[in-house]
Amino acid sequence: MTDPRLEALRQAAPDLRLKTDPADCEHYGRDWTRRWTPAPLAIALPGSVEEVQIAVRWANEHGIALVPSGGRTGLSGGAVAANGELVLSLERMNRVLDFNAIDRTLTVQPGIPLEAAQNAAREHGLFYPVDFAARGSCSIGGNIATNAGGIRVIRYGNTREWIAGLKLVTGTGELLELNRGLIKNSSGYDLRHLVIASEGTLGVVVEATLRLTDPPPPTNVMLLALPSFDVLMKVFAAFRERLQLEAFEFFTDRALHHVLAHGAQQPFDQVYPYYVVTEFAIGDEAQEAAAMAAFEACMENGWVGDGVISQSDAQAAQLWRLREGITESLARYKPYKNDVSVRISVMPMFLEETQALLGQAYPQFDVVWFGHIGDGNLHINVLKPDDVSDADFVGQCEQVTKLLAASLAKYQGSISAEHGIGLVKKGYLESTRSAEEIAVMRGIKRVLDPNGLMNPGKVFD
Ligand code: MLT
Ligand code: ZN
Repeated sequence: MTDPRLEALRQAAPDLRLKTDPADCEHYGRDWTRRWTPAPLAIALPGSVEEVQIAVRWANEHGIALVPSGGRTGLSGGAVAANGELVLSLERMNRVLDFNAIDRTLTVQPGIPLEAAQNAAREHGLFYPVDFAARGSCSIGGNIATNAGGIRVIRYGNTREWIAGLKLVTGTGELLELNRGLIKNSSGYDLRHLVIASEGTLGVVVEATLRLTDPPPPTNVMLLALPSFDVLMKVFAAFRERLQLEAFEFFTDRALHHVLAHGAQQPFDQVYPYYVVTEFAIGDEAQEAAAMAAFEACMENGWVGDGVISQSDAQAAQLWRLREGITESLARYKPYKNDVSVRISVMPMFLEETQALLGQAYPQFDVVWFGHIGDGNLHINVLKPDDVSDADFVGQCEQVTKLLAASLAKYQGSISAEHGIGLVKKGYLESTRSAEEIAVMRGIKRVLDPNGLMNPGKVFD
């Protein structure tokens, strides 16, 4: 390692691991978008809060940008390092620091994978409810950076609801302890919530205190086949009215096609255009009867063509695989991802308009729809054909995103429901946030990161 700046960092923090290998730069410089060519200066793997502070102060001294990095499963380019940045990987800071049975909190380092935090909660007889398919590889720090949502938001809310406190090393290297695990705290601005969803642009999350809850009730999983799109929200209403829903997810026949090609099992003899996976509590006989009543009401109305209910944990997992396997099954097509949301009440109109819009705009691409329909969150994935270059493909998709952004502005929706803005959606931030709001966000960033070194170019320029 000959770069004198890196030598200075090594001297300031002898135990900080530094990597400059091209393979490491490639590995740590990208996320799941795979759209940008990684080109970081180096990778630093701190083992302590103090080492993070040293790295941030060093970055200010040398004018080097920092990219905080968790599991890099992000889908918006928020963890991409393509401009000579120092990647600060939190993967060594991956421990549970404390469990408090009375407060029902788990204090963790940011690099802990979501699944490890879930398991730690379970070992104490409690439950950390944020959950999604990348649970094994994403990290709590990354979840906080994007206010990650997932498949149980309908019942438990986003990551934001479960962060009782966090510690942040700001862009100048100060350590802030935010909210300290309090439930009630009416003492001025809640800076914790500013950090959540800030995508590493205000500082580095170095510790988080997670709120835990009671384990969920026994549940059943049901897969429903729908004959048309316009019944989707009616089916949702019928189930929500009768049941305590833990999840309500939807996907199209194209999504099913790709998941089956990836090894999942065909659920029905016949192919239907739309599917729903729903999970709901079955604590007692009344709830079981309510589930059947919801299903029968949908069948009678012609809203559902077929259905299957899980009879075992293994079958529940099999049904979930049809939904949770979608992202992985599409990865080889380098999908252009849209992650949009509107209020549930306007979802029927938004869905109708979006379907018409995309039907005209993407005639030649395979477009795969799925998502957390019960939260008003739709994932529209456009798959790149092999014979279209990356640049042409993204260019064409961006034209459509402009139309989608205009529709979102009309319905007061969001261009990013849960993946974050990162690099992918920053050109569309104004469809969701007013110019005045963005100006305030810039002002906040200037206070916490006056030299603009924290994940620059992400969220806004
Ligand atoms: C999902 O809902 O499966 C995740 O947001 C990932 C994705 O959209 O691909
Ligand atoms: Zn999602």
